[in-house]
Amino acid sequence: MNIVIGYESYHGNTRMMAYALERGAREAGANTTIKNIRQIKPFDVKRADTIVIATPTYHQKPPSSMRYFMKYYDNFDFSNKTAFALGSYEELGEATEQMMNFFRSKGATVLEPPIKVKGKPSKADLESCQKKGAEITTH
Ligand SMILES: Cc1cc2nc3c(=O)[nH]c(=O)nc-3n(C[C@H](O)[C@H](O)[C@H](O)COP(=O)(O)O)c2cc1C
Repeated sequence: MNIVIGYESYHGNTRMMAYALERGAREAGANTTIKNIRQIKPFDVKRADTIVIATPTYHQKPPSSMRYFMKYYDNFDFSNKTAFALGSYEELGEATEQMMNFFRSKGATVLEPPIKVKGKPSKADLESCQKKGAEITTH
């Protein structure tokens, strides 16, 4: 099981969540790749069984790096892949749903619900992310 995690995070909140999920997945036996979304290469996406996007919300949308990712993979077929989204937010956290909609529109099986954490993740929040990583690996 190859799990590729692409994150963006300007203040570290979403990054902490992404790393917690990665740890849970790795400890459950997945081959994991975790990188800033800008560093995710087509090679990473192609070999992913599951792609996890960790995105904060800024101005009601994902950051520009995430929007670039969606543009770049606009014609990519995700139909043999599973996708999951998580992220930190303060108001509505629309970015996670927008990323899920993107993957759904490209044929991916999207795991619901996303994990959304208001502000800085607590220890319990990070444990949930870690648990989700294990769940995704063994589902
Ligand atoms: C300029 C700015 C705009 C923001 N816009 C939104 C928003 O539209 N919706 C929302 O839910 N949170 C919004 N937030 C809150 C961030 O998503 C939140 O601080 C989050 O924890 C940042 O995660 P990060 O540390 O991973 O970047 C905004 C924060 C800033 C500083």
